[in-house]
Amino acid sequence: MADFTLPANSRYNEVPGREFPAAAGAGRIKKFKIYRFDPDSGQKPRVDRYEVDTDRCGPMVLDALIKIKSELDPTLTFRRSCREGICGSCAMNIDGKNTLACTKSITEVKGDVNIFPLPHMPVVKDLVPDLTNFYAQYAAVQPWLQTRTPAPPDSERLQSKEDQEKIDRPSACILCACCSTSCPSYWWNPERYLGPAALMAAYRWIIDSRDEATGERLDFIEDSFRLYRCHTIMNCVEACPKDLAPGKAIAEIKKLLVSRTV
Ligand code: SF4
Ligand code: SF4
Ligand code: FES
Repeated sequence: MADFTLPANSRYNEVPGREFPAAAGAGRIKKFKIYRFDPDSGQKPRVDRYEVDTDRCGPMVLDALIKIKSELDPTLTFRRSCREGICGSCAMNIDGKNTLACTKSITEVKGDVNIFPLPHMPVVKDLVPDLTNFYAQYAAVQPWLQTRTPAPPDSERLQSKEDQEKIDRPSACILCACCSTSCPSYWWNPERYLGPAALMAAYRWIIDSRDEATGERLDFIEDSFRLYRCHTIMNCVEACPKDLAPGKAIAEIKKLLVSRTV
């Protein structure tokens, strides 16, 4: 029988978490159960429980996290920036699903709100995953315009409205990593499989009518691991908070490879 060993610190329920009860006289209370881990402390991960008065809190999960950090526990660590779903910083696993804390309404979650970092990534601290590999994969697909012919002397490189519309959706990716960290293939081969976010970024440049490195781009990703570890499970489509369907972009790349002429 196969014998699997879990990596160190992958269990979070061996150490009792701390309780932060609501103040006396609080209104409607919601309990937040939040993953806590500080690799420098030498202690195992745990889940702390915070009671938040939602009558005195903004409507989104990020509002509750900011309130907890400001009023209950300044040691809680998480990323956030824009607070309106465009920077991708606050991606985390809420109520069992990867999403953005700033666009996830507290009332959408029935019962207690369970919050964990994005799955299957090393944890820097608490809700902050280490995205070094994720960003390196994005850089590997060379996400910028590449040309050989000189630009017109008196204008920019133009494209038709129809060609622009083809890249509208893949260009809207905010690199939150919700898709890649929801993908079982990525969990098993994070070093060798590029994952849906990087592949959709590659697709965005492959179909750009102005780009002249299409053949090289296809050569780079045509690989049993980089591309073909995608088994069309489509978790990524479900996970994307911007509704960009990265799994469908991957399917389009596979179709292009079948019929490639460049
Ligand atoms: S379609 Fe499935 S295997 Fe492919 S990237 Fe998305 S979740 Fe992963
Ligand atoms: S495709 Fe969607 S889920 Fe994936 S990184 Fe981009 S915005 Fe986030
Ligand atoms: S804080 Fe920018 S996407 Fe949530």
